[in-house]
Amino acid sequence: MTVYSLEASNGIAAQLARQLGDELVFLEKKTFPDGEVYVRVPSKPRGVAILVSSMYPSQEKRFLELLFSVEALSAYAEGSIIAVVPYLAFARQDKRFLEGEPISVKAVLKSLEALGLSGLVTVDLHQPRVLGEYLSVPSINVLPAEEIAGYFKGKVSNPLVLAPDMGALERAKRVAEHLGAEFDYLVKERDRVTGEVKIYPKSLDVAGKDVIIVDDIISTGGTMALAAKNVLGSGAKSVKAVCTHAVMVQGALDKLYYAGIEEVVATDTVPSPVSKVSVAPSVARGLRELLEQMV
Ligand code: R5P
Repeated sequence: MTVYSLEASNGIAAQLARQLGDELVFLEKKTFPDGEVYVRVPSKPRGVAILVSSMYPSQEKRFLELLFSVEALSAYAEGSIIAVVPYLAFARQDKRFLEGEPISVKAVLKSLEALGLSGLVTVDLHQPRVLGEYLSVPSINVLPAEEIAGYFKGKVSNPLVLAPDMGALERAKRVAEHLGAEFDYLVKERDRVTGEVKIYPKSLDVAGKDVIIVDDIISTGGTMALAAKNVLGSGAKSVKAVCTHAVMVQGALDKLYYAGIEEVVATDTVPSPVSKVSVAPSVARGLRELLEQMV
């Protein structure tokens, strides 16, 4: 196998190549004078090609780099092309919330497959069901729950793991199980036109607890800050915030600390000052599983 690294691999391609004992090849990349993206695969893959790139801002550019690389690799056409996309952008637009909207994640997945993708590994996708809905090639979504829980082991004395909404409960549950802690969720509503988020108080026994709020993405920080205020207002001893994808826009980190959050922790699917947990071990496990399915 050959592991190919695009710029937005954020070190994950190298960790995978080392764990799998495969060669690592860096894709060439430049920008044309008019701003258009150019990529080149400098050498043929030895067997299966593993293409690693996350899709953090600028998401459109990262997506095109990935798409063009899949097309370039498909010209070699001897083995499978597997994309490892630790942060798959556009995943939150997974349905037509308002009339006339696109299902953006469908467009992303279908175009990758149309250009020759044979398999996909993603990390903590907003709605993993989209993989089955919009891809016909094999795919795996890995949840780095064990790695996240591992970070907190021994650092919290009376932990309660919370999801900021019911949709995020499975993630919180998995982290809680690895920590040997209890888990629950808050009640969240988002206005689909204005984007405004409201989190409603729920009768939770958080008094004296070290609460860890777990979400898939922190983008503007609005959801997490509201959740933290809610929990601190109900008597929690401390609040830590953890997410897989630290997109962090519009002063998100300041918003979080100002809301009273003691520590913010994320994985390395998106580079950020709080990306302290590596998803490479989970991704390597997922990739091995996918390869077994594909033989
Ligand atoms: C939404 O359902 C997601 O799971 C996150 O809660 C959300 O995208 C976070 O965005 P923000 O940080 O802008 O509130």
